[in-house]
Amino acid sequence: MKRVAIAPGDGIGPEVIPSALEILRYYHPEWEYIPVYLGYECWKRTGDALSDKTLETLRKADLILFGAITTPPDPKYHSVVLRIRKELDLYANLRPVFGEGFDILIVRENTEGLYSGIEWQEKDRACTLRVVSLEGSRRIARFASACAKRRRRHLTIGNKANVLKSDVYFLEICVEEAEKAGISIDKKYIDSLVLDVLQHPSRYDVIVTTNIFGDILSDAAAFLEGGLGMLPSANIGRHQALFEPVHGSAPDIAGKGIANPIAAIRCVSLLLKYVGEKPRALAVERAIQKTIADGIKTPDLGGTATTDDVGRAVLRNLQAEKKAEVPDL
Ligand code: NAD
Ligand code: IPM
Ligand code: MN
Repeated sequence: MKRVAIAPGDGIGPEVIPSALEILRYYHPEWEYIPVYLGYECWKRTGDALSDKTLETLRKADLILFGAITTPPDPKYHSVVLRIRKELDLYANLRPVFGEGFDILIVRENTEGLYSGIEWQEKDRACTLRVVSLEGSRRIARFASACAKRRRRHLTIGNKANVLKSDVYFLEICVEEAEKAGISIDKKYIDSLVLDVLQHPSRYDVIVTTNIFGDILSDAAAFLEGGLGMLPSANIGRHQALFEPVHGSAPDIAGKGIANPIAAIRCVSLLLKYVGEKPRALAVERAIQKTIADGIKTPDLGGTATTDDVGRAVLRNLQAEKKAEVPDL
């Protein structure tokens, strides 16, 4: 029995989360699902984007399925998603990117770096402090090394140590942890890494990097899969995890019913892996692949299907596969 908080959020969040939730409920009708209201719309309505009560609900959840939220560049508005990551200490942000001939896992440090939240404004400049701590770096380096150990035993460390002393530090810690884990490494400057991942994706296994570099790298890597509508992410802490698409609230297409729900559905696949149900996670992925192969695709993938068409097709494919597995007695 798990407690799962469901936070659809803003924009296309509430459009894509129902498709994902339906698949999760299909496998786990017995779990407790707790709807959670937060985000920019919530802020406009209540003056609070994330109330203490809501944060408590999230803290008590084993799992969180999160849509997306709108973050206006308003100095009085603090990003809800960043606050949740920090408050729940969801320190590892995993962003898998895979396709024909490549299988990459981006491991993004999720609680510090340029997202330290230590910012101030002076008369003639605004400053943001980039924090790279020993503990923060060590735990993400260990996490990424452990992932690599279970995969192809190779870790790429995305960095900008040619310029940033804080990245010299990050790099040293990552190398140390990778050595302890007995995996091979290569170090790559983040700017050239972004291009190389796009040109030679098969060269990469696990990529570990600091917070904002991982943010930018993952959006760019979405190109390999056809766009942002395809990539899920898992934000992992010590006792709980939050799953959300890599994309945002996509205000440009919100309300049209055409958002691609695959990133959100893949969040369910990641969630199932996290709770130790890998065969089910793989079944969800096969159902997604079949849906695409059948040409049921939203406009971002060149199709004409709606969000719900795709969601229903994935569920149908899952049900069909399950039926085929059961002996016909
Ligand atoms: P975005 O990811 O929302 O959209 C970028 C582009 O990708 C848009 O053209 C959009 O239509 C397209 N896109 C994204 N998801 C799609 C999907 N599922 N199907 C089809 N097309 C899709 O990024 P943005 O426009 O830079 O940001 C919009 C808002 O979302 C901002 O307020 C930003 O802060 C926020 N945001 C939130 C999260 C989050 O909640 N985790 C993540 C990223 C951005
Ligand atoms: C992401 C988003 C967030 C980030 C924003 C919305 C705060 O872009 O999850 O990739 O920068 O981490
Ligand atoms: Mn991002």
